Amino acid sequence: MELLSVQNVSKSFKDHSYTVHAVNDVSLDIHQGEMIAIIGPSGSGKTTLLNLMGIVISPDSGEVYVEGQKASGMNDTMRCRMRNQYFGYIVQDFALIEEDTAMQNILVPTLYSKHKKSSSEYRKLIYSMAEKLQVSDKLKSTVKKLSGGERQRIAIIRSMVCDQKIILADEPTGSLDKDNSTIVMKCLRELVDDFKKTVVIVTHDLNVARQCDRTFNLTGGVLTPCNL
Ligand SMILES: Nc1ncnc2c1ncn2[C@@H]1O[C@H](COP(=O)(O)OP(=O)(O)OP(=O)(O)O)[C@@H](O)[C@H]1O
Ligand SMILES: [Mg+2]
Repeated sequence: MELLSVQNVSKSFKDHSYTVHAVNDVSLDIHQGEMIAIIGPSGSGKTTLLNLMGIVISPDSGEVYVEGQKASGMNDTMRCRMRNQYFGYIVQDFALIEEDTAMQNILVPTLYSKHKKSSSEYRKLIYSMAEKLQVSDKLKSTVKKLSGGERQRIAIIRSMVCDQKIILADEPTGSLDKDNSTIVMKCLRELVDDFKKTVVIVTHDLNVARQCDRTFNLTGGVLTPCNL
């Protein structure tokens, strides 16, 4: 069974007098342990599609299934629970709290998790991830003192601290230089290869897309497979 299945999903936004068809009849099956890239011009619907996949927003038509469970049949509480259980989200500006330490930021999703571990178990997990990503010495620093690449790695750890199976990454290397971009991509690859995570990356960077297992182009809300 697919881990995540998007079937004939469409989403429009009404903006005063006209309607934007942001995502247009998109279907995609994603299996566990895959790394998928979605490229496309600005405004082509990439973030909207990621939000539909992560059941952050609901489609106007079509269905999203997570491990065979239909998202549209659920009430808000169940959908929220499913979102927290399955999805880690990495947004472009990292959305970290500047005045808090890296560790405090990483622990935020655990506050809402249904399957809580003890505080020491979380810390052990976070330190082992941070060591892998070479930021273990930064966990006690406030975020405002961290570089862009370090912040992004902290955001990656936060996206998987509750052991979510699917990581949705919106332009994860968008504001990074080449070296940091390489480190972040290596991290995401390791999450797939070593932890069997599933990663969907939206990117403008063809080098990033080429490192993924499958690539798709989204233009005018229409998704097509592409070879880079
Ligand atoms: N909440 C909203 N209300 C109205 N229009 C929206 C909303 N969200 C997105 N849109 C419109 O839908 C279209 C797709 O937007 P989206 O953010 O998905 O594009 P994108 O491919 O992620 O672009 P970028 O590469 O610039 O991030 C755009 O025309 C955008 O203006
Ligand atoms: Mg976007």
